[in-house]
Amino acid sequence: MWTAARLQRWLATSDFGGPIVVLANREPVRHDRAADGSIVVKQSGGGLVTALQPLIEACSGVWVAHGAGTADKAVVDWRDGVDLPPANPVYRLRRVWLDDDEQRGYYFGFSNEALWPWCHRAHVQPVFRSDDFDTYRAVNARFADAVCEEVDSNAPLVLVQDYHFALAPRMLRQRRPFSTVMSFWHIPWPRPRDCEACPWARDLLRGLLGSDILGFQTPSDCHHFVDAVESLLNARVNGARTVITHAGRRTVVRAYPISIEWPSRWARRSPAIRACRETVCRELELDAQTRLAVGVDRLDYTKGITEKFLAIEKLLELHPEFVGRFVFVQIAEPSRNTLAAYRALRARLVETAARINRRFGNGSYRPIVLLERHHEPADVYRFLRAADLCYVGSLHDGMNLVAKEFVAARDDDRGVLVLSQFTGAARELTDALLVNPYAIKDAARVLARALRMTEEEQTMRMRAMRALVSEFNAYKWIGEMLTDAARVRARLPSAALDACFDQLTPSIAG
Ligand code: F6P
Repeated sequence: MWTAARLQRWLATSDFGGPIVVLANREPVRHDRAADGSIVVKQSGGGLVTALQPLIEACSGVWVAHGAGTADKAVVDWRDGVDLPPANPVYRLRRVWLDDDEQRGYYFGFSNEALWPWCHRAHVQPVFRSDDFDTYRAVNARFADAVCEEVDSNAPLVLVQDYHFALAPRMLRQRRPFSTVMSFWHIPWPRPRDCEACPWARDLLRGLLGSDILGFQTPSDCHHFVDAVESLLNARVNGARTVITHAGRRTVVRAYPISIEWPSRWARRSPAIRACRETVCRELELDAQTRLAVGVDRLDYTKGITEKFLAIEKLLELHPEFVGRFVFVQIAEPSRNTLAAYRALRARLVETAARINRRFGNGSYRPIVLLERHHEPADVYRFLRAADLCYVGSLHDGMNLVAKEFVAARDDDRGVLVLSQFTGAARELTDALLVNPYAIKDAARVLARALRMTEEEQTMRMRAMRALVSEFNAYKWIGEMLTDAARVRARLPSAALDACFDQLTPSIAG
């Protein structure tokens, strides 16, 4: 079983010198200036932060990220860093400042209008602007420099996270040739045909091949990546298709399904299930007997939120006995809202919820409650613990950690997870009720089945999922990558290295 303590022991006895450095665009916490002038600390949402924050705390490492909070500059030291958590500091957050043009080109432009839709099959066309790519390259170089400023060794261990930094692994390798670079791509990798649509696909592949270890969420993401390097870069690939040799360097490519801290600190600190339910019902002015479903997503077109609303509408149409007795609460964290695709999605969502509420609402009863604001994790857990079911309806998702957090939240072994078959999580959480989120009528039937599931069946399914997530937790995720990185660092001859990596997934959950 991988735990924080085992991870600490492993690192203490390994020959990785110096602190681990995580490079990720999103900072785990941001400091914002409130209206009264005081500074408030906000926990960032999203899967990446959920998985990595407990790890950086356990390793006492350094996290290099974009300083995006309105008061971030006010709290840093002379090296643009801050020690966290404030009450009991165990790791350092190094902030990198980006001006408006850099944010537009690197984050909104190339990362989120090009790479995000390029990697997700959600029917939004990527926009590839050469100016955006130039800015993306320049910003990747700035972050690579910041990482180097944070390390005191010639051979640091750097964890490069996600699609914001595809070029950084190679840049780090050029700046510190003896570093160990472990990169993880949190979102899906496009199929070979779609991959070619990006004019800079070769640059991205070369950038990522600066890594020693390159992790993806699922074996099919690995297959797509390896096919791309073979066809676009003519790279050499071993028989198991796990070791790529290119420009005289080797990169191990494997699936490491990401997970969450276990036991979850948020579940541990939560009030009892009954209290969670009471406060949620009181806040939303719901009858205590209401059947409650929740969804928790960033407001993103890949998350299938509109389709979830349509499935709720169909549920109420097919099963009128739920009208007045069933409420779906959708927590939607505002996200990337300067982009047209996100603004259009928001307008569509608000309009769809209002139409369904007009159709089935009555007096104060509204079947859909859309909560469009940031919720701190403690609050999210309160909703997850209060609910009869959680609906994750992504149209395409690398993993989806909300699914795993719902499981972590339910220490009463109750509640039903309705999970899109197009998430990475669906490969592991086979005791969820799987749905095709596009098939509205089928999804409505699955929701009805979830609402009618006996307590015995709920317990059986939830126990199985909790056993799985507790073992395949975030410490195991990083522990297996580190174990592989240590093998690569041992500089074994090709045949011996190949023998270490003769399968795509180090250990398969499910
Ligand atoms: O899924 C990829 C990811 O980077 C996750 O870490 C996170 O859920 C989300 O995207 C964060 O998006 P942003 O940083 O743009 O808010």
